[in-house]
Amino acid sequence: MSIVRIGVVGAGSVAQRGILPHLSQSDLSDRLALTAICDPAPGRADAAAEKFGIPQQFTDYDDFLANANVDLVILATPIGMHYAQGRAAILAGKHVHFNKTMTTTSAEATDLINLAAERGVKIVASPGEMNRPHNQAIRKMIQSGAIGDLCWAVCGASFGRYHENEEFRQGNDPLSNIDPSWYYRKPGGGPLYDMTVYALHGLTGILGSAKRVTAMSGVRMPMREFRGQMVPCDADDNTLILIDFGNNVFAMAYGTPAGSISEGFSGSYFGTKGQIVGLKLNGELFDYPGSDQADSHPHGRWAGNQWILPHVTTAHQQIDEHHVYEDIMQLVDWVRTGTPAVASAEHARHVIEIIEAGLRAAETGQTQILTTSFS
Ligand SMILES: NC(=O)c1ccc[n+]([C@@H]2O[C@H](COP(=O)([O-])OP(=O)(O)OC[C@H]3O[C@@H](n4cnc5c(N)ncnc54)[C@H](O)[C@@H]3O)[C@@H](O)[C@H]2O)c1
Repeated sequence: MSIVRIGVVGAGSVAQRGILPHLSQSDLSDRLALTAICDPAPGRADAAAEKFGIPQQFTDYDDFLANANVDLVILATPIGMHYAQGRAAILAGKHVHFNKTMTTTSAEATDLINLAAERGVKIVASPGEMNRPHNQAIRKMIQSGAIGDLCWAVCGASFGRYHENEEFRQGNDPLSNIDPSWYYRKPGGGPLYDMTVYALHGLTGILGSAKRVTAMSGVRMPMREFRGQMVPCDADDNTLILIDFGNNVFAMAYGTPAGSISEGFSGSYFGTKGQIVGLKLNGELFDYPGSDQADSHPHGRWAGNQWILPHVTTAHQQIDEHHVYEDIMQLVDWVRTGTPAVASAEHARHVIEIIEAGLRAAETGQTQILTTSFS
């Protein structure tokens, strides 16, 4: 397949800020065509199609699957919809890119993995944190004993008021009046599925599959304010998970309303002879392929790390959500050339199991043995 025809489902914040601007760049016309958009919100699909020059618009997902000229579906919808929508797309013979998080349970992830294999389609699950050279470098340093015997690690993220404040939620037209309430509701809401998922992809990409988890969790903010309205929140927003990697190596992952003890989504790793905290080994910045280029970013090395993802060439450096674009392009390559993507559904399933088992451990008070792994 020389040109992969792509349909985007959900024309919300991430689609408008990242996916649609990236995929409508002219440098991609030898590989892909953005052919369809689907969103049920009144006027949103039409407005996005006009803004980004997309030929087909749909307001109904079944209609989209039946009638859109697409080979590959990008799901940019609320997390709780991904399983059913992904399943339907696979059954319709489409390759699927799942924005994080792919599903909310590992059983759902297994079902999608099996179904995709049965139907001969490819699925990629963001976030591909192991595409990042600094995470690969941390893995190598730990494996080579740079910090001695690893003892423990910590990673995580906090909601803050990030989603309430996103640019595309502040206006009154169909492209800017996007409601973030689903981020605070079950299924799929809460900082674990939305943000800690990045940190857990990094942690497990670096340390490998985990064995057991236990946790404490609950709802700390039962209401949030968005544009003068109070939004009820029932998804756990304050969770601390303890993770056992075997051989008495432990980690803690947090997903909380506020506060952070890690840099970005990156973890901190503590060993008998040293530590890796963020991008520093024993207090000094460490090098990795592309770190010089990352340093040339006007906002520094963390921001510059977005520029050194393999597909983020000049035209794409100035567009947001670089990592989402990277994962999508790896799926496009996989479809066209047979080179598998880094962001595997099996890795995503293991992370989903850690989250799911963490929530179950908190509810039951019982440590949970993990059953999935990835390589
Ligand atoms: N916002 C971010 O910063 C960000 C960054 C990276 C990844 N993501 C991921 O991208 C996905 C979407 O997040 P978002 O922030 O853009 O959400 P959003 O709420 O801004 O947009 C979701 C869109 O999906 C549409 N939608 C709802 N039901 C639908 C259906 N049945 N069919 C088609 N469209 C439907 C909504 O109308 C809305 O336009 C999530 O998986 C999220 O985790 C978000």
